[in-house]
Amino acid sequence: MHRIMFVCLGNICRSPMAEFVFRDMVEKAGLGDRFVIASAATSNEELGNPPHLGTRAELSKHGISCQGKRAVRLKSSDYDQYDLFLGMDRWNIQSMKRLFGGDPEGKVHLLKEYSTGGEVDDPWYSGDFHTTYEDVYQACMNLLKELRK
Ligand code: 4NP
Repeated sequence: MHRIMFVCLGNICRSPMAEFVFRDMVEKAGLGDRFVIASAATSNEELGNPPHLGTRAELSKHGISCQGKRAVRLKSSDYDQYDLFLGMDRWNIQSMKRLFGGDPEGKVHLLKEYSTGGEVDDPWYSGDFHTTYEDVYQACMNLLKELRK
C-alpha cells in the first residue's frame, strides 16, 4: 500500500488538484486498491471550503470530479499515517517540518522533485490554473511510474 498526502497552504487550489489528478491516474491504471491518497492544508484559512472554482473548472476540463472535497488541516499525527508528503512550495515544506518536529523518516518532499524541480506556482495569486494542472500532471505521472517499479 502506498499512502500519499499532497500538501499546500490552503488545500483549495494546488493540493486538491494534485490529489484528484493522481487519484484519476491511479484508478485508470487499475491500482486504486493499492493507494491511499489525500490532501491537506498547512494553514487554517480555508478549512471546510470546497476546492477553488478555478481548480474545479480545470479538473472538469479533464473529466475529473472533486465532488465532496473540503479543505482539511494537516495534523502532526498524519506523519505516521502516510509514506510520502508532497508539498507544492518550499514554504509548505518548512511548515510541515515545523508541524512534524522535523522529518526523521525522510517522507517530506517537493512534488516537482518528480519532474523538473522547483515549485508549483500558486494559482491563488497567478490565476493560471492550467499551468498548475500541467505541473501537477507531469510530476504525478512520474511519481506513479516510480511507485510501480
Ligand atoms: P492553495 O492556494 O494553497 O494552493 O490552496 C491558496 C489558498 C488560500 C490562500 C492562499 C493560497 N489564502 O491566502 O487564503
